[in-house]
Amino acid sequence: MADAVVDTVASVPVAVIGAGPAGLMLAHRLGRAGVDTIVVDTRTRREIEATQRAGILEADAARDLVETGVCDRILREGREHEGIEVRFGGRAHRIDFKALVGESVWLYPQTDVFIDLADARQRDGGTVHFGVSDTEALDITTTAPRVRYTAADGSRHEIRARYVVGADGSRSMCRDLVPADRRVRYGKEYPFAWFGIMAQAPASAPELVYAHSEHGFALISQRTETVQRMYFQCSPDESVDAWPQDRIWETLQARVAGEDGFRLKEGPVLEKTVLRFRSFVQEPMRWGSMALAGDAAHTVPPTGARGLNLALHDVKVLAEVLLRALGPAGAGALDAYQPRALQRLWRAQNFSSWMTRLLHTPPGGSGFDLRRQSGELDNVLGTRAGRTYLAEQYTGWPVRSRG
Ligand code: PHB
Repeated sequence: MADAVVDTVASVPVAVIGAGPAGLMLAHRLGRAGVDTIVVDTRTRREIEATQRAGILEADAARDLVETGVCDRILREGREHEGIEVRFGGRAHRIDFKALVGESVWLYPQTDVFIDLADARQRDGGTVHFGVSDTEALDITTTAPRVRYTAADGSRHEIRARYVVGADGSRSMCRDLVPADRRVRYGKEYPFAWFGIMAQAPASAPELVYAHSEHGFALISQRTETVQRMYFQCSPDESVDAWPQDRIWETLQARVAGEDGFRLKEGPVLEKTVLRFRSFVQEPMRWGSMALAGDAAHTVPPTGARGLNLALHDVKVLAEVLLRALGPAGAGALDAYQPRALQRLWRAQNFSSWMTRLLHTPPGGSGFDLRRQSGELDNVLGTRAGRTYLAEQYTGWPVRSRG
């Protein structure tokens, strides 16, 4: 395949594999600095738009979308949340982000971030090819890497670049290009998954509700006035067919129930999926002329809503170092990427895995494990220091310094 004849050859400074938020935001940032990119993705635009992902953006990430001129729709249609509610032992505990750390987050689904970025690329004349196949990255350890792909009409194309960025998601093929004996993969599996639904119903609470109960974890999130997103802890091999609507509502209601009589507003279940998750990091995040960004390099469990924020942070740093690397500083400038990205990443790995363990019920947990977990929840929710820690981690760091 590598030596086959291609129909067209294009040259750009940076070729990007993957048109999710990481790939598109990188292309957008480079485009603003006058650097052309070509972005390719095996999925069609419609397929990406139909994929449900998490919906929480740190205030910094939301500001970046507006300030870099992607779109101000987030300010009109996104919703600023100044806290979350954590339910435990049948009681509601509010974590007031604004009062505790002076910050807030934005509820704005990843799908909308993707739509805004794809529209911005189109508006700004950026090149993005969706629905390609047979993508290959070649010669990535040289200073003249290439990307080859087959377009939707069957024609073959080559992109010649100075750098290639692998932003091709959690099933990345780019990360496999780092030789097995030169890479390290760190990871952790969890003995549970999330059962996710979309339901046609009004919101049950003003903010997101994270619930820990003896029956397991549940998260009540939102999408619009009339559509809500909810999840509950299930077994990783759960089948959606075993869950008729009544069973779903009964399970969710039991997990959020409490002495205050709180009940979810029910409605038709529009969609159901089992979401498996894990913690994962591959190092190095750069190999020769290729850099990895977002889920291609790392994934986090969804509990702390960090994934999209991490991806956007990666490409903020990466755009900066690529601009330097394309100038007089040369390829050495890329050395700064991994340490800067990883420092934040491992903080997020810690937070995501901590919040996951804090709120889920470990299957087969011993009496000691379950009581220790209750003690930890009391420590976190019942002390100002504990609530401040949760608020600080959830709203993001360390771009702004607040000590
Ligand atoms: C979501 O709205 O899908 C969502 C929100 C918060 C999370 C995870 C998912 O922690």
